[in-house]
Amino acid sequence: MTATAPIDPTSTEAWSRLAGLAGLAAGFSPDLRGWFDTDPGRADRFTLQAADLTVDLSKNLLTEEILTHLVQLATEINVAGRYQAMIAGEHINVTEDRAVLHTALRRPKDGADLVPPTGFVVDGQDVDADVHSTLDKVYAFAEKVRSGTWTGITGKPITTVVNIGIGGSDLGPVMVYEALKPYVQEGLECRFVSNIDPVDVYEKTAGLDPETTLFIVASKTFGTLETLTNARLAREWLWNQLLSTGAIDDTDAARIEAVAKHFVAVSTALDKVAAFGIDPENVFGFWDWVGGRFSICSAIGTSVIIAIGPDNWREFLSGFHVLDEHMRTAPIDQNVPVLMGLLNVWYSNFLKAQSHAVLPYAQYLHRFPAYLQQLTMESNGKTVRWDGSPTTIDTGEVFWGEPGTNGQHAFYQLLHQGTRMVPADFIAVANPAHPLKDEAGDGASVEPGQDVHALFMANFFAQTKALAFGKTADEVRADGTDESIVPARTFPGNRPTTSILAPALTPSVVGQLIALYEHIVFVEGIIWGIDSFDQWGVELGKQLALQVTPAVQGDADALQSQDSSTKSLIAKYLKLRN
Ligand code: F6P
Repeated sequence: MTATAPIDPTSTEAWSRLAGLAGLAAGFSPDLRGWFDTDPGRADRFTLQAADLTVDLSKNLLTEEILTHLVQLATEINVAGRYQAMIAGEHINVTEDRAVLHTALRRPKDGADLVPPTGFVVDGQDVDADVHSTLDKVYAFAEKVRSGTWTGITGKPITTVVNIGIGGSDLGPVMVYEALKPYVQEGLECRFVSNIDPVDVYEKTAGLDPETTLFIVASKTFGTLETLTNARLAREWLWNQLLSTGAIDDTDAARIEAVAKHFVAVSTALDKVAAFGIDPENVFGFWDWVGGRFSICSAIGTSVIIAIGPDNWREFLSGFHVLDEHMRTAPIDQNVPVLMGLLNVWYSNFLKAQSHAVLPYAQYLHRFPAYLQQLTMESNGKTVRWDGSPTTIDTGEVFWGEPGTNGQHAFYQLLHQGTRMVPADFIAVANPAHPLKDEAGDGASVEPGQDVHALFMANFFAQTKALAFGKTADEVRADGTDESIVPARTFPGNRPTTSILAPALTPSVVGQLIALYEHIVFVEGIIWGIDSFDQWGVELGKQLALQVTPAVQGDADALQSQDSSTKSLIAKYLKLRN
């Protein structure tokens, strides 16, 4: 266990100063209009660069004074020192007594000037050597699948890869696969099974040719009920399909051979994988110092590595690494993840924001909000600090979102005019993978030949402008609006946003974006004094699901032992079942 006790952030001088500025009793009154009007340099000063990401913080409820105290808070809490401790392999995951080394997964092979230096050893393990030998093994396997050298049991090359996993063993691969679709090799497709709802396996195997399908069972623990159940369903599907077409004989040997050719696994629990029947040769390992939600750079990414190829994957990893280096070396007032993490603390703890929206203006990032939900909420939704003492302040914002412009036509009403302040991150790229022109136009505001991405980006820019500056009652009146609806058409403004702009959705940029949010989560967790790397809160539900299962299967005694609400719900369910 680490000896370092969390510092109570409320005991710092910076916290008192921030509380004073927020005017908790009097009410903070931000003035983005005034701040921009009186300070022409605001946008420039608050726009930072982290690798390819241009990050405009100027439309946040931030002044120089607030920034000074936020920076001081990070200094007093020693965020930089904790980050150094993390990347060096200290057991900062205190409740599980583990190192937290996802940053080691993307260190370049034999990189010069690495911190810690190449070949560093943690708990007796040469981390770099193990990371790179596993990556090389995955790359070699991926090349075999991509080239058609790896074949199914009837000698046909693989055309579909089905990743079976859940949580971090699903959300990362599916999000990155979707984000990097333009890089997927022609003729290859990935599908992702996660839910134990049987329709998920049913739908994802529908229409597949078993002879050209490869299943990857991805589970850090290889003990997750959903994943193992789905893996068994998939194995059954494979056998039945191959038997029905006569591709295999009805023998154990043929079944074993089919699994060897059509199933591989990614796990830290090699013994359990072997028990499932997967050839140990076809297992890609990782380590307990990689948390599930931080595991996309490990062999958990095997499905995506097959789809986009090792070269693109190396570029993806390099994007993470460059952000890791930014996090490690940039001064706090220029450090994008640190400042974004501090702003989130400012909004959560001082301005009482309840949630945080992430709004990608890039359709290929449509699973990014879902990915961030696990990353942020499984990490920071805690009520005790890493030494077991209770937190005395709010932790863990609710992260949510949808791609723009879809969100605009759904929930932006609340962002613009609701009673709650929802800080929002807007993410866009300058160059879409598939630029299209609207050749016809609409004869009015859309010119013939209009670049559609420019229209899309106009929304990106307009929304943050509207949120920041609003529309006053006088401006509404000046439009000739009937007085009775002036209040309804007035926009208060001062709704904080961060705009993140990248040149294009390349593998490196996707890596940079993920690393950015990983580090934001880290910063918030350290300020709050919580262990962002455990997830005990998911355990009770898992235990109770097992306890409730006999009742759901019709065991009368088990049903009787439930609380009255659960009992009557299960009874109703049993009645409704055909
Ligand atoms: O239940 C939560 C969790 O443990 C996540 O943290 C993890 O990403 C997910 O389940 C899947 O776990 P595994 O990879 O071990 O199957």
